[in-house]
Amino acid sequence: MKKVEDYVRSIPDFPEPGIIFRDITTVLQDPDGLKLAIDGLKERLDGVDFDVVVGAESRGFIFGAPLAYEFGKGFVPVRKKGKLPCETVSAKYDLEYGSAEIEMHKDSIKPGQKVVVVDDLIATGGTIEAAIKLIESLGGEVVKVLFLMELAGLNGREKLKGYDVESVITYP
Ligand code: PRP
Ligand code: ADE
Repeated sequence: MKKVEDYVRSIPDFPEPGIIFRDITTVLQDPDGLKLAIDGLKERLDGVDFDVVVGAESRGFIFGAPLAYEFGKGFVPVRKKGKLPCETVSAKYDLEYGSAEIEMHKDSIKPGQKVVVVDDLIATGGTIEAAIKLIESLGGEVVKVLFLMELAGLNGREKLKGYDVESVITYP
């Protein structure tokens, strides 16, 4: 019986020397891989009381939207700068390679809403730390942060201290 980690393809030195890129396309393109990934995330939400799923562009959309659908909740995208058409809040952050800026629509989260944040992977934690900052600036309460994969050696969890963080796959 295969596990979801068996479907992840690891590519050394992409996009830069020294980075091992954890490629999820091989998970997504296989029906068993896709099911294992969504089910692995889904079981970590059993019994969690929440109102909405927030996912980070772009790989967070792939996993966040099916989870929202599965639990009968809405899905809110966190997008890279310049993509959202209405009034936004924005935050800059650093990545394992490079830096970026993300945005959310100001009316996407209502004050007091309980939020589950989903992404494919935590590396430095910069993306999700910035997303949480935006969610909280809109009055949302982050009740769970969920990743398919965690690169534990980069200590991203340090940035998310005090939050309930879970990952399906952990790499050293
Ligand atoms: C990747 C990944 C996470 C983030 C993790 O996204 O999907 O969102 O980096 O890195 P961090 O923990 O150091 O912030 P990327 O910005 O490469 O965008 P993509 O999903 O569009 O490929
Ligand atoms: N995003 C940031 N670091 C990554 C990695 N090592 N593999 C895949 N996506 C990433």
